[in-house]
Amino acid sequence: MYLKKTIGSVLMAVLALNGTAQTKPASSKTKMDQFISSLMQKMTVEEKIGQLTLYTSDLDVTGPTIRAGYKTDIENGLVGAIFNAYTPAYTRKLQDLAVKNTRLKIPLIFGYDVIHGHKTIFPIPLGESASWDLNVIKNGARIAAAEAAADGLQWTYAPMVDIARDPRWGRVAEGAGEDVWLGSQIAKAQVQGFQGSSYDGNTILACVKHYAAYGAATAGRDYNTVDISTRELWETYLPPFKAAADAGVASFMTSFNEISGTPSTASNYLTRDILKKQWNYPGFVVTDYSGIAEMVQHGNVANEKEAGEAAINSGVDMDMQDAVYPTYLKKSIAEGKVTMATLNDAVKRILEAKYKLGLFADPYKYCNEEKAKTEIMSAANLDAARDAARKSFVLLKNYQQVLPLKKSGTVALIGPLGDSKRDMIGNWSAAGDFSKAVTLLQGMKNVAGASANIVYAQGANITDDKDIARQLNEHGGGITALNADSLLKSAMEIAQKADVVVLAIGESQGMTGEAASRTDISIPQSQQKLMQAIYTLGKPVVLVLMNGRPLTLNWEEAHIPAILETWFSGTEGGNAIADVLFGNYNPSGKLTMSFPRNVGQIPIYYNAKNTGRPADPANKYSSKYLDSPVDPLYPFGYGLSYTTFSYSRPTLDKTTMKVADKLNISVTVSNTGNYDGEEVVQLYIRDLVGSVTRPVKQLRGFQKIFLKKGESKELKFVLTNNDLKFYDINMKYTSEPGDFKVFVGPNSRDVQEANFKLIK
Ligand code: BGC
Repeated sequence: MYLKKTIGSVLMAVLALNGTAQTKPASSKTKMDQFISSLMQKMTVEEKIGQLTLYTSDLDVTGPTIRAGYKTDIENGLVGAIFNAYTPAYTRKLQDLAVKNTRLKIPLIFGYDVIHGHKTIFPIPLGESASWDLNVIKNGARIAAAEAAADGLQWTYAPMVDIARDPRWGRVAEGAGEDVWLGSQIAKAQVQGFQGSSYDGNTILACVKHYAAYGAATAGRDYNTVDISTRELWETYLPPFKAAADAGVASFMTSFNEISGTPSTASNYLTRDILKKQWNYPGFVVTDYSGIAEMVQHGNVANEKEAGEAAINSGVDMDMQDAVYPTYLKKSIAEGKVTMATLNDAVKRILEAKYKLGLFADPYKYCNEEKAKTEIMSAANLDAARDAARKSFVLLKNYQQVLPLKKSGTVALIGPLGDSKRDMIGNWSAAGDFSKAVTLLQGMKNVAGASANIVYAQGANITDDKDIARQLNEHGGGITALNADSLLKSAMEIAQKADVVVLAIGESQGMTGEAASRTDISIPQSQQKLMQAIYTLGKPVVLVLMNGRPLTLNWEEAHIPAILETWFSGTEGGNAIADVLFGNYNPSGKLTMSFPRNVGQIPIYYNAKNTGRPADPANKYSSKYLDSPVDPLYPFGYGLSYTTFSYSRPTLDKTTMKVADKLNISVTVSNTGNYDGEEVVQLYIRDLVGSVTRPVKQLRGFQKIFLKKGESKELKFVLTNNDLKFYDINMKYTSEPGDFKVFVGPNSRDVQEANFKLIK
């Protein structure tokens, strides 16, 4: 009854406004503008500030506090949005408070960290990026949105597009890796997946984060200071954000870090100037959790009131959780420190998002319990998660074709991650129901059926480091502290009797993600001990890695015949890994972050500069280490298949290219092995001389192709002037005439090249 009344009055308001423009029907934009401006005329300053206020509800909190009286604040019209609340029933309850009890009945937006799936969990984003399959990635975001929307949500804090070159940083798990170009393609696909082409009730607002350069945290320590050049900001860190903005992302989240002395949440340069002016961005900007109040600790302001002024004046529209705007902004406005125009602009952006979602027309549009029952964890969603998972795995080594395994004999699955449901779905799997996750043990039984005898032993604790275990367990780590000797003994017993050993080891889910930086990125010692003991038995061993970041794997690469990187692969992970182990799916993933040999090489990434003294083993005075090679253990773009592929040299249709030309590149790829399979064919360029130095390689294209065994295919790539542009010495985005190289190959290292010249 009440709902009908609300809809009715909103519709009447819209109709009344429309009535003024009878001759020509108003565009939907005009209608929205009229509706919002009429609403804003009725709003008090407090109600306006309320729209800028975002509080957490009582689930899954990542920061320090919950505002005890947040429900009363909603009833008083002092809250614009809520996060960490979901299910149609619960969001309906909170929405009731906003639209039944408040003066202006403005609906709330419900936000949440829907990062790699909502209930059906997909691989962690770093894993999904390794699929190099934009359709799979887009579809994953679409399903995440559909489940979230069916569960009462309208806004996700994703995609995370921070370029990450430092695997010590635990949040590399949440992004698409180290490459700017690939990261930008993936950002776009994710935004399109979450938001679709309209807010039809199955799609939600996306929020690209963390703006900006959070991935450049000094020493890989989370939340740490960032100090990078303007050039580095524009060349490396901003492009994925620009791609998301161009794809129409509804909101931006500022990052926790400072950049060159200014916290992002107070950066006029980033938000007011670049985002809102230069990019003309129409959406709204939210802080990260308590990002405004934290400025007092940063030391760029003396108190929270000043922090709020710095934030809103720099273009930050919504305050996540720290209640600085509702506490101080009115006073700041009265004192002339913040103008009404600034406040109005922020309010308008947020109301527009609500309007576009259709919440004014129906505040309960996303509270459909029937839909929740059919959409969430549907068979189709689970199938898509299984497919995404197997496409995300990267085969790092397969000496003498240990893989795929036969579906016969005795297979010993050993390791603390072999039967762990919680770890399977990884970090940032917020609403993910891990009780429904398929572990590797279960998956192997499902896929191999009765023809193979699958036996399991835990073998080791995830870690025997008491302090690490304590820290992880304080946040739901689930790390056991069983007797290491007896765990090992049982594992050795089953391994001895087995034909092959599958070792499921790596990190637990809590070892990566937010606030999970590590200075040592090897497999924890307790598990290394297990692995080395199993190795002494001389059985064929397959290492199935589960982890959220590149690891250092020198011993493993030197000793273990087969290594499959599976990240944290999601609800259907166990089935997906088993599909690959037993040859039902031929692995095709390629790394999107370099795997270093040791922590001393970090940061390490393929698109580095040459230096004046490139590494040369014969020359002491060249850019290298005394105690380590310079190159990574596994380079960007690397990943094997059960089959093998050969590449022809790339051929170009011209050696001189004019600015308006298209350069056509052909390469023939052949499947030379014994299995049908997919290959990610990669194309890189190098600009040999620039007004500023250029990287030794830059990805500019890829194609994921399927080739039957024995099949060959000629692939065409096209480069245009756009692909050759960069920020020149004057920071102008342009190309420069001169010599270029084109490289094509299966990864960033093993390439063949051709040359051309750009003339103007
Ligand atoms: C994280 C964000 C996240 C937010 C809300 C913060 O701690 O940095 O990525 O979206 O919490 O949960």
